[in-house]
Amino acid sequence: MLRRKGAIFDLDGVITDTAKYHYLAWKRLASELGLYFDEKINERLKGIGRLESLEIILEENGQNFSHQEKEYYANRKNQYYVEMIKNITPKDILPGVTNLIATLKAWGVKLAVASASKNAPTVLKNLRIIEWFDHVVDAGRIKKGKPDPEIFLVAAQNIGVKPWECVGFEDSAAGIEALKRAGMLAVGIGDKEALKDADLVVKDLTFITPILELFF
Ligand code: G6P
Ligand code: MG
Repeated sequence: MLRRKGAIFDLDGVITDTAKYHYLAWKRLASELGLYFDEKINERLKGIGRLESLEIILEENGQNFSHQEKEYYANRKNQYYVEMIKNITPKDILPGVTNLIATLKAWGVKLAVASASKNAPTVLKNLRIIEWFDHVVDAGRIKKGKPDPEIFLVAAQNIGVKPWECVGFEDSAAGIEALKRAGMLAVGIGDKEALKDADLVVKDLTFITPILELFF
């Protein structure tokens, strides 16, 4: 069987629960603008860039804003989000993550973070885990967001591992699609129905090591 040599992690909703802060920040902006927004719409935003996320909310509400307005409101959402992530500490690392990373490192697996978030460096810094990873993709340099495979292919290249030798960890449908299109093994974290295209779906990353032993 093919032994995998690289592991690529999404950040928000995989390593830490910042997916909840993205949701709350969009919720606040939407209510200020009198726009409808709920968990179901939010599911469509996971893994999707800031401006495109606002476009989805507008589309769901049958509205359209000028480019300038979109920039303005997306920036306002970001201010709410930045305020929320200020107080993140290592205690906010999700269950199972520390153990999984330590195990992968012991197995000699190369590690990367592939997040669409421009706030990823701040979150990783606050969690004090930036040094765990061999590479963190710079979201600002990625031309096409998830579900395009670009971000995962760039991550694989930077850790010197072939795409098909990588396993990716994702909590978003867009991210799972991107991983599959990149030719990687896709592990979904969260809801089986929302992540039905993943090769494997788990509730969280506790107790995943025995399963991963089959792949690495
Ligand atoms: C991640 C999150 C999305 C977020 C995107 C951009 O992919 O899952 O919810 O919209 O990053 O984040 P940013 O911090 O740059 O607005
Ligand atoms: Mg995510």
